[in-house]
Amino acid sequence: MGETIRAMNAYWTPDSWKKRPAQQQPAYDNPAELQRALLTLEQLPPLVTAWEVDRLRAQLAEAAAGKSFVLQGGDCSESFDDCNSGTILRKLKVLIQMSLVLICGSKQRIVRIGRIAGQYAKPRSADLESKENVSLPSYRGDIVNHSGFTPTERRPDPQLMLRAYERAALTINYIRALSEGGFADLHHPENWDLEFVRNTPGSRKYQLLLESLSDSIRFMEAVSSGELTQLTRVDFFTSHEGLLLPFEQALTRAEPRQRGWYNLGTHTPWIGDRTRAIDGAHVEYFRGIRNPIGVKVGNQIAADELIDLIRVLNPENEPGRLTLIHRFGAEKIRMRLPILAEAVRRAGAKVLWSCDPMHGNIQTARSGIKTRSFDDITSEIITSFRIHKECGTRLSGIHLELTGEDVTECTGGPGNLTESDLSRDYRSQVDPRLNYEQAMEIAFLIAEQMK
Ligand code: PEP
Ligand code: CO
Repeated sequence: MGETIRAMNAYWTPDSWKKRPAQQQPAYDNPAELQRALLTLEQLPPLVTAWEVDRLRAQLAEAAAGKSFVLQGGDCSESFDDCNSGTILRKLKVLIQMSLVLICGSKQRIVRIGRIAGQYAKPRSADLESKENVSLPSYRGDIVNHSGFTPTERRPDPQLMLRAYERAALTINYIRALSEGGFADLHHPENWDLEFVRNTPGSRKYQLLLESLSDSIRFMEAVSSGELTQLTRVDFFTSHEGLLLPFEQALTRAEPRQRGWYNLGTHTPWIGDRTRAIDGAHVEYFRGIRNPIGVKVGNQIAADELIDLIRVLNPENEPGRLTLIHRFGAEKIRMRLPILAEAVRRAGAKVLWSCDPMHGNIQTARSGIKTRSFDDITSEIITSFRIHKECGTRLSGIHLELTGEDVTECTGGPGNLTESDLSRDYRSQVDPRLNYEQAMEIAFLIAEQMK
């Protein structure tokens, strides 16, 4: 291990990140107002518990060892307006339905993680946005400022961190209620019917799958003479990009009965591709928390840089601690992934490999709208499975941007959306998401790859 890494490992506190350069942070203009908001946040109860966080770490260790698979998905960015029952319910529903397809196809356990209840901050390519000779701070997500293009709306407002905490708490409360019973109960497949999915091969396969599942449950309950109570609830975990460091620090708590510090705002935060500099503030913050964490790995990272990052973030080589979420693009993955996968295997590093087939495949449609093609997304998934197999590593997870709604943001898929369909129902303020039907089709494709 290099001298710099040894020195970095020496000392950590929840605010030691402040001594390092922090990318992608808003410029708050009133330090006293910022301090007041953070002090309030520090007094509020956590959103998750250290026991849940430890349970997820153990489940991720199992997935990395080939015993299960991780399905992580949700919006590129949640907006405060998305905090309503319909949107939350449909997002949970599509993820549960996808996990059902994966379980039936692979006969493995699925770890479900939402990009939800905290995915409010977004990295931007420039600090300022200019329109007709007016320059204003870029919109950095609802936790920082508003998307409207006026000085008042674009001012970074510390109060929005409190509004974000409240929205996250309301969202997580509803998710817990839904996943603990009733809605998530496999005895009631009527909750699990497909909505607005056209008559596709995927939808017919899904109906058959539900029918055979109900038959199996009836059979098992007949022979075991009782209700299978494990089938009445599901485990569901939360995640978001840990981008806005003052907010993440305020939700970092020492647990009296557990060793070390936990980020109790979410189960598993991740570091984005733009903020993973080894000497940067984000890596400094993340290395000290006990949560399982993710790192986005894109085309710019070199193999030795990745190995150094792994040593800083997981010095004890603890299984389940570190997920590498790669996002290269359907073409570039063939060049980049083999080099990185080989290097990690040779270093003996215990990591969970997950594929984000979304962020390397962004295109601009002729109309100027950002989109992604369903074929590029599926191609990157299939190539990921193949390359990991060839390298002696294992793809143990998928990381998707999706919604449970019938939006038109990505082209292709079962509905054959073309560029001219995009304007029909394009809602994302940031990256385009798979719609409900496209997401279900991807689940069938992954199940096929896992067999
Ligand atoms: C994201 O997941 O929305 C994101 C910004 O990813 P990346 O860090 O890979 O660009
Ligand atoms: Co995104």
